[in-house]
Amino acid sequence: MEMGTSRSDTRPEDSHPPERFMPLEFQGYPEEEMDSRAWAFYAEMRRRRSVRDFSPRPVPRAVIEACLRTAGSAPSGANKQPWHFVVVTDPTLKRRIREAAEEEERAFYTRRAPEEWLQDLAPLGTGPEKPFLEAAPCLIAIFAQAYGVDGQGRRHKHYYVSESVGIATGFLIAALHHAGLACLTHTPSPMRFLNTILERPPNERPFLLLVVGYPAEGAQVPRIRRKRLREFVTWR
Ligand SMILES: Cc1cc2nc3c(=O)[nH]c(=O)nc-3n(C[C@H](O)[C@H](O)[C@H](O)COP(=O)(O)O)c2cc1C
Repeated sequence: MEMGTSRSDTRPEDSHPPERFMPLEFQGYPEEEMDSRAWAFYAEMRRRRSVRDFSPRPVPRAVIEACLRTAGSAPSGANKQPWHFVVVTDPTLKRRIREAAEEEERAFYTRRAPEEWLQDLAPLGTGPEKPFLEAAPCLIAIFAQAYGVDGQGRRHKHYYVSESVGIATGFLIAALHHAGLACLTHTPSPMRFLNTILERPPNERPFLLLVVGYPAEGAQVPRIRRKRLREFVTWR
């Protein structure tokens, strides 16, 4: 403690050293520009579709990394950033993932799925075969960390894990699309096999498997209907 000061001298603001805060970097726009930016972003995002037919063309690592940086900039409960992304390009690992996923999917489509779920999936034309897991150049396995583990092996709490990882995944999907890549959100259920194949620790739960690449020549997507604004928005 410095000469001439005591604990009782400490003013409340001294417990928040100024360097803990910094000026916000905020970019505002005139209203007209806001409007055109908002519509332009919508026009771009509405073209995003889930792709299930991929070209083997490799994707640039630097682009994937930039998109992952976007994902890592997402907000999270108490800033715990409870996510981990495993980027898989190795053909052997992709084959193992495909085999394990197809085993789960066969059980899902033949035994586990309730009739209503199968009916809802029918228009999408999905089935237990997942060739895209090998054909696509890149799989991103997203893990949600139920709790953190520090260097000494001590556990610490994470908050709103699913919400946080879901938001980061949304950022990633938007970033990939914006960069000119296609992806598929894939959820073979259960996905614990991803921990084994990708050697991830028990505090991490597989959240989603993103299949990433370029669409195959002539790729087709199901015709789907999106809800109109008034069907999913209420103003009060
Ligand atoms: C959480 C989640 C899980 C999904 N799981 C699968 C999946 O396992 N297999 C698949 O083919 N599509 C899957 N999808 C993709 C959806 O079927 C697709 O997003 C939906 O039909 C809308 O089509 P669009 O993404 O082209 O707009 C999933 C999507 C989400 C958000």
